[in-house]
Amino acid sequence: MTMNRKKHTITIAGAGSARVPALVGNLIEMKERFPLTKIIFYDIDNERMGKMQAYDELVLKTYYPEAEVVFTTDMDVAYCHTDFVFCQMRVGKGEMRSYDEKMPLKYGLVGQETCGPGGFSYGMRSLGAMKEMVEKVRSYSKDTWILNYTNPAAIVALGLDRLFPDDKRILNLCDQPFSLMKSFAKILEVPQETLRARYFGLNHFGWFTDLFDTAGNNYFDQLRDYLKNHDFKPFNAEQRSKSWLDTYVRVNKYMQYFDEYIPTTYLQYYFFPDEIVQESNPHYTRVDEARDSREKEVFEVCGQAVGRDTMDGITMLTNGVFGKLMVEVAESIAYDLHNEFIVLVKNNGIIPNFEKDAIVEVAGTIGKNGAEGYYFGNIDMFYKGLMENQYAYESLTVDAFIEQDYKKALEALTLNRTVIDPEKAKAILDDFQSVSKDYWVLK
Ligand code: G6P
Ligand code: MN
Repeated sequence: MTMNRKKHTITIAGAGSARVPALVGNLIEMKERFPLTKIIFYDIDNERMGKMQAYDELVLKTYYPEAEVVFTTDMDVAYCHTDFVFCQMRVGKGEMRSYDEKMPLKYGLVGQETCGPGGFSYGMRSLGAMKEMVEKVRSYSKDTWILNYTNPAAIVALGLDRLFPDDKRILNLCDQPFSLMKSFAKILEVPQETLRARYFGLNHFGWFTDLFDTAGNNYFDQLRDYLKNHDFKPFNAEQRSKSWLDTYVRVNKYMQYFDEYIPTTYLQYYFFPDEIVQESNPHYTRVDEARDSREKEVFEVCGQAVGRDTMDGITMLTNGVFGKLMVEVAESIAYDLHNEFIVLVKNNGIIPNFEKDAIVEVAGTIGKNGAEGYYFGNIDMFYKGLMENQYAYESLTVDAFIEQDYKKALEALTLNRTVIDPEKAKAILDDFQSVSKDYWVLK
């Protein structure tokens, strides 16, 4: 039924990411649904990309012999002729992520890569490289789709919208709502494919407001009751490290105070910053945990492929969240399927009593014209207040980047709910500035 679909060329930007081998597995699993003629692996760090190259080549030669495979460190080769850019570049790699997560802890502030001051610092780095990428891609073609997974997606999405206001082929993605829905499906014992949600917020700052299936059964109250009485565990709890398990249980904690909606896990940083700082180890943060777990496992599997001709005895990596989402989104665009996802789109009246120019996260569909959010309606004062504060922070961060404006950066950080105190905001801003000179400068 899905045969004879037009084939595409894709570029994986940031192919040195340890998430890429599993994404390749998803491309293989979904090759009937989203068939490819060519896959271009691109990274500026050839050594890091090289750790996975033998595996990527072997798995594709074995299961996707019809696809041409290219590895490059040359931006022009990467972008000169491609239909989709799957972007998950991490500017500054783990080394800079480590500063983002550890420096704020010195001041008793949350250390996280997307929320709080760490998200600010990472956002400033991502914006420069993302701008360069979009300019390069567009110098060759206005038709190429750019699917962006680079974080912090909230700031990247807003920044790209400001920098390229007429560009209709940039789609920013986050897999956390998708991942949470998988966990909901497991708890409710319903097939994940049939579940639909209603949701509103900003990226990493939103709430589920409804949950039902395609047959019309509603599960929202059942799930809410469950979460008020049982520990929330991710669907893949066995594979998750401690910090993620603690994160999920904080959804339960949040719901002891506010139980009308189900919050995204990232709201923990804004609601319980002190508890999180107390539990953090300033010498061992998520970047270290990810390096010692996922990254190590991926590099081990990839190492087995070196010098081998067959996949015998080597596991094919896949990812039921990130990789699956990326490929399903590309498929939905390529064949104009209008499948439903939780999407990042310009508000423009989706939430009428909220900033028109904000990028909101809501349920919607994806097709050949990109993402379209469903109308949501007005939101109550509590949520509006939280979101306006967060949007002001995001917006000033983008302004600070574009205008290289120190004052706006300081205002942004002071507005962030995890910071508040301008003395701390200034201290962390100056610290980040001192280690980020290769990436951004403020006047
Ligand atoms: C979720 C978020 C992503 C984030 C990832 C971090 O999937 O939606 O934005 O990048 O978690 O996961 P990690 O395992 O790298 O800490
Ligand atoms: Mn995300």
